[in-house]
Amino acid sequence: MNKSKSLIERRHAVVARGVGQFAGDTTADSALRGRVTDVDGQEWIDLAGGIGVNNVGHCHPTVVKAIQEQAAKLLHSCIHVATYEPYVALCEKLVELVPHGDATKVMLTNTGAESVENAIKIARQATGRSAVIGFSEAFHGRTLLCMTLTSKVFYKLNCGPFAPEIYRLPYPNRFRYGQGLDENTFVQRELERLEQAFVNLVPATEVAAILIEPVQGEGGFVVAPKEYMRGLRRMCDQHGIVLICDEVQSGFARTGSWGAFEHSGITPDLSTWAKSLGGGLPIGCVLGKAEIMDKALPGTLGGTFSGNPVACAAALATLSVMESEKLLERGRVVGDRIRAAFLALQAKCDLLADVRGLGGMIAAEFCHDGDPSRPAGEVVLRALATARGQGVLAIPAGPTSSIIRILSPLTITDADLDRALEILSESILQAAADAAQSSNA
Ligand SMILES: Cc1ncc(COP(=O)(O)O)c(C=O)c1O
Repeated sequence: MNKSKSLIERRHAVVARGVGQFAGDTTADSALRGRVTDVDGQEWIDLAGGIGVNNVGHCHPTVVKAIQEQAAKLLHSCIHVATYEPYVALCEKLVELVPHGDATKVMLTNTGAESVENAIKIARQATGRSAVIGFSEAFHGRTLLCMTLTSKVFYKLNCGPFAPEIYRLPYPNRFRYGQGLDENTFVQRELERLEQAFVNLVPATEVAAILIEPVQGEGGFVVAPKEYMRGLRRMCDQHGIVLICDEVQSGFARTGSWGAFEHSGITPDLSTWAKSLGGGLPIGCVLGKAEIMDKALPGTLGGTFSGNPVACAAALATLSVMESEKLLERGRVVGDRIRAAFLALQAKCDLLADVRGLGGMIAAEFCHDGDPSRPAGEVVLRALATARGQGVLAIPAGPTSSIIRILSPLTITDADLDRALEILSESILQAAADAAQSSNA
């Protein structure tokens, strides 16, 4: 038996099966830049990036060095016990890179879900209100509140009862919900839907926050139209609602900017981040307007490990790599290559109904007859398995796994990226042909 098989067997024996797995029976032993090597020594080109974590690439030497140096100096002290420099320095850097108005403050977390939970706690304390409006096809994490806010039913089976005071509207996804409307008309309709929600769903005076991913991650890289984001901003201002942008998947160079919200020219009141911030170590944050952040009472935010010194050092090094290696620009270049490959595939594959995304966050949605209510998830899953067999690691997205999302390290070489996209395209064509053949049989 090869080592991968044996490791997977050991996993099945002791790891709870609820800890799901996207990429079949893949293992990982080491990784560098844009490649992962499994326990048998087989190498993959990585188009999954640890689900959007490895924006600077695997084991970036600058990040590894910063981790080693910090680990030898101060592993842990807890920010509630003693103040240490890396925590403060990271907050200073984040405020400099992603200001939220004139005065910005930060709290550090360990994960994306923790960032979202805390942003909602802050919004509730700031407004004295309890309701939160979220969106269909959203994903915000697996804690109970975040799971409540998450749309994908498959991720929350039998986990209720869920948190109260969560309301959901359709995400402004024109491909899925647009019924042929042009973008302006669609945006107007969706903003009117929100106004109506204050009459028929929950009064605006009870809404603490509207929580939106400017580009949906798990939902399949759907980009909220700029005018919708601007309309949301206006409505939140009008009704005293805190606008929270969840940048956990879209943040830190992925869309060619620090945050995806920057593309629509708005500033949220609060934003949530994690994933690629630590370059591979677990760290996240809530960033926000100081006057809102400071409405949270002392003692209501934090945690034993949040903003651990080693994770802070990793994050500082990660951000410096993003700046010195110009990864924001690189995000756009990577995105252009992915988009071009998917558009070329679309000309040959009837099932490829939509190519979309922002910067380096590009996805392709597969469905029958261009109808998103008839998803082709089985073709996507088969294609991804074929691609894995040929050394390409990629993951699906969407409620029915009918979307392929590319989250490669932004430091991937052009040659690796092109080769991986070629293999993926061939795998999709093969899977589509197989599906057509078996439906004709
Ligand atoms: C947009 C978004 N928010 C929150 C989360 C939850 O992050 P974590 O898995 O670190 O808790 C994710 C994870 O994929 C995400 O994509």
